[in-house]
Amino acid sequence: MRRFFLSFLLLTMAATLFAENIHLTTPSTSLVLKADEGGSLQYVYFGARIQDTDVDGLEASGWKPQDAYPAYGQGNITLDALAVTHPGGDMTLDLAVESWTVRDIHEAADGIHAACDATLATIILKDKVYPFTVKVFYKAFQDVDMIETWTEITNGEKKKSVLLRRFDSACLPVRRGHVWASHLTGTWANEGQLVQEELQPGILKIENKDGVRNSHTSHAEMMFSLDGRPSETEGAVLGAALCYSGDYHLETVTNDTDYHRFFAGISPDHSAYELAGGETFRTPELAFTWSGEGLSGASRNFHRWARDHRIAHGDKERKILLNSWEGVYFNINEPTMDKMMADIAGMGGELFVMDDGWFGVKYPRNIDNSSLGDWQVDTRKLPHGIQWLVDAASGHKISFGIWIEPEMTNSKSELYEKHPEWVLNAPSRPLSQGRGGTQLVLDLGNPAVQDFVFGIVDDLLTDYPGIDYIKWDANMPLQSHGSTYLKDQGKLLIEYHRGFAAVCDRIRAKYPEVTIQACASGGGRANYGVLPWFDEFWVSDNTDALQRIYMQWGTSYFFPAIAMASHISAVPNHTNRRVTPLKFRIDVAMSGRLGMELQPKDMTEQEIAQCRKAIAEYKQIRPVVQLGDQYRLVSPYDRLGLASLMYVSEKKDEAVFFWWKTDHYYDQHLPRVKMAGLDPDRRYTVTELDRIGGPLSFEGKSFSGKYLMENGLDIPAYPSAYAEQVAMQGYSSRVLRLTAE
Ligand code: GLA
Repeated sequence: MRRFFLSFLLLTMAATLFAENIHLTTPSTSLVLKADEGGSLQYVYFGARIQDTDVDGLEASGWKPQDAYPAYGQGNITLDALAVTHPGGDMTLDLAVESWTVRDIHEAADGIHAACDATLATIILKDKVYPFTVKVFYKAFQDVDMIETWTEITNGEKKKSVLLRRFDSACLPVRRGHVWASHLTGTWANEGQLVQEELQPGILKIENKDGVRNSHTSHAEMMFSLDGRPSETEGAVLGAALCYSGDYHLETVTNDTDYHRFFAGISPDHSAYELAGGETFRTPELAFTWSGEGLSGASRNFHRWARDHRIAHGDKERKILLNSWEGVYFNINEPTMDKMMADIAGMGGELFVMDDGWFGVKYPRNIDNSSLGDWQVDTRKLPHGIQWLVDAASGHKISFGIWIEPEMTNSKSELYEKHPEWVLNAPSRPLSQGRGGTQLVLDLGNPAVQDFVFGIVDDLLTDYPGIDYIKWDANMPLQSHGSTYLKDQGKLLIEYHRGFAAVCDRIRAKYPEVTIQACASGGGRANYGVLPWFDEFWVSDNTDALQRIYMQWGTSYFFPAIAMASHISAVPNHTNRRVTPLKFRIDVAMSGRLGMELQPKDMTEQEIAQCRKAIAEYKQIRPVVQLGDQYRLVSPYDRLGLASLMYVSEKKDEAVFFWWKTDHYYDQHLPRVKMAGLDPDRRYTVTELDRIGGPLSFEGKSFSGKYLMENGLDIPAYPSAYAEQVAMQGYSSRVLRLTAE
């Protein structure tokens, strides 16, 4: 696919060359590097866009150039981006700038991502003694405020290998002075939890060593609020996202100098990478941005870049779907599937996804302890096979999607019986098994396994071209280090993810159109190293609306609503047993990529009617939610009793405002929420969506954008007309559509 087979087109020199300085720009930011021949590559400035004429004065104004890609061996006493051992044992590097180029590039659209114009700086660093080269790349997007940086590390020895001990993608210096970090933590069913802390002397280390599901417990992204305590709307913010599907580390070092140093890269901890003579190692991209509009501003930059350049089909509205998992779990059969399709179609949905449980011949997949790898339909459950389901969906005028977990198998499976050598396990040790006590991870570093995994998708999509959507799951960590294929076990973790990328590339080259969801025990694959091939991710297995407010809030720091699958589910919630009103569940799900995760046949007529109406209304606001700009207004993490955010269309002619009450105490006095992102000079008419009570006082009235941004609207927690189902349970929520006159 294009992202990995770039055809660079040499155009004009866009960046300006000021003596030895490289000045790269995006619409609102500047990156200035100093690349003196024979000296080290220096990072001088990254922030608000400056004039070319200001570049010369940067150092005089106090910016102190910092090593842009520090390598171990020349006296740096903290961390380094790169550390190696040369043949013979020398552990030092001394990298100097040999040459550099800056050129404009154009990448054509490829059916998955839109066309892209960027300025690419390539700086070649050479060791002063050894035949060892590092190319450092900075790709500055011309339409969004984002720069991607990565390196190519080449061992120029003829035969002897060099051991890579640390191989980060980048190091970003951050000027000290009341800097706060925001990052995400969590666990299964509680992903995307926001953590905010002031940077203190020492190392703030964020890492993931799951091997597969790299966003459950931590995330590969960070933001730094540069002007003191984090604010959603004000102050300078630097944000960074490591685009890697495997293990990583992000380390922010604060020592006795004027700069924090942020390092990000593949975790070297369980990889001893022998770089052969002549071999080049490419590090994953670190995407970084700057905004003067607070955390929300930096998020909007990530969202735009994601939609325009990083996630699959980021410019295409997503279908409203019903997923079968929480509705029926493994109890798949034809009449049930058909009825669910009819039900979601009847509510205005556009897609039905059949989850786990449809496959396995010798071993039927009735619980989670068998059959992964045996991707043949279980005709005891589905006598007429997949095509019957595709046809049934089309009869209901909706599309059909299917669940697979292609990187995995079970010890109880025909695949494992045939190919025990295809699973990862430490040699000479008993099988280390995961989910269901039997699950195993396939050795994706093995080309034969890659062919098999590609074949799963290829067979499904070739045999049933009507399949519109794939839910690609991955439900266990890489828990036993051992490959019978690889000679060098030190490469196992990295080769797994190269294999994953190679398979995804093949799938996308052949099937650019199909929608693919990344799921990994819920939100284990919310990561930009995965998303180039995937359209969206499952945020969490926890569909409880209250907890989702927190999870989706955190996740929205880096990921756009269009990528966040957000489903209305039944109560009591299947994960935490909480009972919330249907309105509340709808109002939370509508703020992301709306779907349903329940058994419609268990719903009352009234609930069905409410969902039908909500789906029709979501279709009206879908372009704004999925393609608009997000403004986070009041954070649930601030514990003010509510959370609120809104989406505004690019032309600022449409907006949607979400308001959710998060605490329930008598006589609470909730803050009035000021809106953001509107055109101050236009007037907006307010209409409530998913309305179940009488009209609010401002229903149908219009207000100027200026008024709404300076004052907001006072949302009553429980107006007298509010239906009982909400008031009784203490939950309250509002969705307001704003249409410019
Ligand atoms: C994982 C996913 C769920 C569901 C199950 C099926 O847990 O996160 O959504 O698909 O697997 O086994």
